[in-house]
Amino acid sequence: MSTQAPSNLSLDVVPETLDSAGDLAGKHIVLGLSGGIACYKAAELARALVKEGATVQVVMTEAAAQFITPVTMQALTGRPVFTSQWDAREPNSMAHINLSREADAILIAPCSADYMAKLLHGRADDLLSLMCLARPIQSVPLLLAPAMNREMYAHPATQRNLAQLQADGAVVLGVGSGFQACGETGDGRMLEPGELLADVIAFFAPKSLVGQHVLVTAGPTYEAIDPVRGITNLSSGKMGFAIARAAREAGAEVTLVAGPVHLSTPRGVARVDVKSARQMFDAVSARVDAATVFIATAAVADWRPAAAAEQKIKKDGSGQVPQLAFVENPDILATVAASGRAQSGALFCVGFAAESHDLLAHAQAKRLKKRVPLLVGNIGPATFGQDDNALLLIDAQGSQAMERASKLQLARQLMAQVAARLSSV
Ligand code: CTP
Repeated sequence: MSTQAPSNLSLDVVPETLDSAGDLAGKHIVLGLSGGIACYKAAELARALVKEGATVQVVMTEAAAQFITPVTMQALTGRPVFTSQWDAREPNSMAHINLSREADAILIAPCSADYMAKLLHGRADDLLSLMCLARPIQSVPLLLAPAMNREMYAHPATQRNLAQLQADGAVVLGVGSGFQACGETGDGRMLEPGELLADVIAFFAPKSLVGQHVLVTAGPTYEAIDPVRGITNLSSGKMGFAIARAAREAGAEVTLVAGPVHLSTPRGVARVDVKSARQMFDAVSARVDAATVFIATAAVADWRPAAAAEQKIKKDGSGQVPQLAFVENPDILATVAASGRAQSGALFCVGFAAESHDLLAHAQAKRLKKRVPLLVGNIGPATFGQDDNALLLIDAQGSQAMERASKLQLARQLMAQVAARLSSV
């Protein structure tokens, strides 16, 4: 297929060289736009897909071109946009065949209510619908990002169409909720570009944890001294959140029990916020029976003040400092790992060890002490707050190093390791 710009178009805006995590490297996405105000978000989505390493070929309907110009989409993707089945650029005059054969996936974002109805009936009176009908259904997935007014979305006809499109093999990525361009508030907004990007990346991830329910603890805990002061630590929660995301990408149902952190919840993950170690313990205890994998990444405070003062402790001017007594917090991982389900193998437990020195020896000792089949060691001061890390996996067979990489990449590798151990049980 031709990728040259039409000769009457001079393109002086080309996609910049972007720092990319490369999660979509090698993927060719055909991004279809049907008519709707959410077309403005498709520009950012195209840019985000390119940034992750995908090549993006935009196909727009006539209605979509009323909302955003093909020039904008061409500039962002570096490829001329297709808008018509009569496009003379294709030597064989079969743009619908050529475009659909090259795609690793077709993503229609926004997909209007009218367009869903059209796809449902297999109509093919414009290039985008023609291409969807002509796609090899087994090898080229069709992903839809609906976008419409809340009444249109809730209408039985739309819901019926959504269900039938899914039954016909399309993947419906869901909708957002909130204020809509029409001034009303409700369900039906197109998902944000970042959410759609995460869904597309997850779509391509190997589904090694389907059927598993992964429970993850993450972040620090906060142990109150009085209503305004407390003891905490430098854990950012990034590793645990990356693990929750990676487990979800791999197809697991995921519950994330998070201490006080400022991180957004990964797509599709159920999150429970807690503050103290005891709250984390209670939140885990209430959910662990439903889990098949428990991954304890949280930096749980080992001790808490024996009694938190009900009122702020005041300086009395005497120079006397308050005397704090401490009691030990429950060990969440050790408690869970000692349970019958964990010991029988029905619950696979993974512990983390944040050490400052002698990583291998300390991590081996901690694996035995906590009675977990797999313990992941890292150097605490070198990782807290960082976006990358290096890990050491310890199990009964020995140890295995995971080279320094982003926490998300390490989390994905770790989930593959967990999946391999689950399938060998
Ligand atoms: N952990 C836990 N509950 C605690 C303490 C730790 O669930 N009260 C978990 C952590 O989430 C981690 C593992 O146990 O998975 C190891 O935590 P770490 O603090 O490194 O170990 P400790 O047992 O506290 O040992 P030490 O502080 O002496 O290194």
